[in-house]
Amino acid sequence: MNFDLPILAPSILAANFLTLKDDIQKTLDAGVRWIHCDIMDGHFVPNISYGAGIVKQVSTITDEAFIDVHLMIENPDFFVEDFVNAGADLIAVHYEACPHLHRSIQKIKSMGIMAGVAVNPASSLYNIEAILGEVDMVVLMSVNPGFGGQSFIENTYERITELVDLRESGNHSFLIQVDGGVNLKNITAVKDAGADVLVAGSSVFKAENIAARIAELTNLL
Ligand code: DX5
Ligand code: ZN
Repeated sequence: MNFDLPILAPSILAANFLTLKDDIQKTLDAGVRWIHCDIMDGHFVPNISYGAGIVKQVSTITDEAFIDVHLMIENPDFFVEDFVNAGADLIAVHYEACPHLHRSIQKIKSMGIMAGVAVNPASSLYNIEAILGEVDMVVLMSVNPGFGGQSFIENTYERITELVDLRESGNHSFLIQVDGGVNLKNITAVKDAGADVLVAGSSVFKAENIAARIAELTNLL
């Protein structure tokens, strides 16, 4: 699948769930075509968000948006089918939650969607080197997973560079997604470091005017 890079990917975790459809529609009307869905189970991360039922409802809002599901859960293999059936176009699992990561990635791809691997801020990228040829996207966590509204971890810039080098040296073609703490101040630097998909939750949905903020962030990409 070809994408017009770089991509701004709003995370709906920060949206108002009482007006979720309207909030998402505002981003779509402002040109967003990639929605980031953060699934948290209260075990892998110390927070609980929402499940496949919400993702299914989100996927009915439009068939124009690419639905990216970020599983911050234990035993993600058990839930892959639910999220595929809910309309996920890509599912990213955490390296730290998958003792059989190659099998997890193969399971996602066998269901006809794209597969991603996410790595926490303290996880070396060399832990996922062996899987880089199999994944469509690597999610570099630039915050500790579990919450929106956190500050961007500054050494992420070096990790983006490291990942770009690993992609080039291995002749891979995965997308690099940077997830957490991306805002008006750092989005250009994150893109310039090599990010292809930039997740923004609170910067988008906590803004006074969502459409205006999307335009501001997009202009900085
Ligand atoms: C954190 C999630 C991120 C988060 C992004 O565990 O993976 O996607 O929702 O939200 P902000 O942009 O507010 O950090
Ligand atoms: Zn996320």
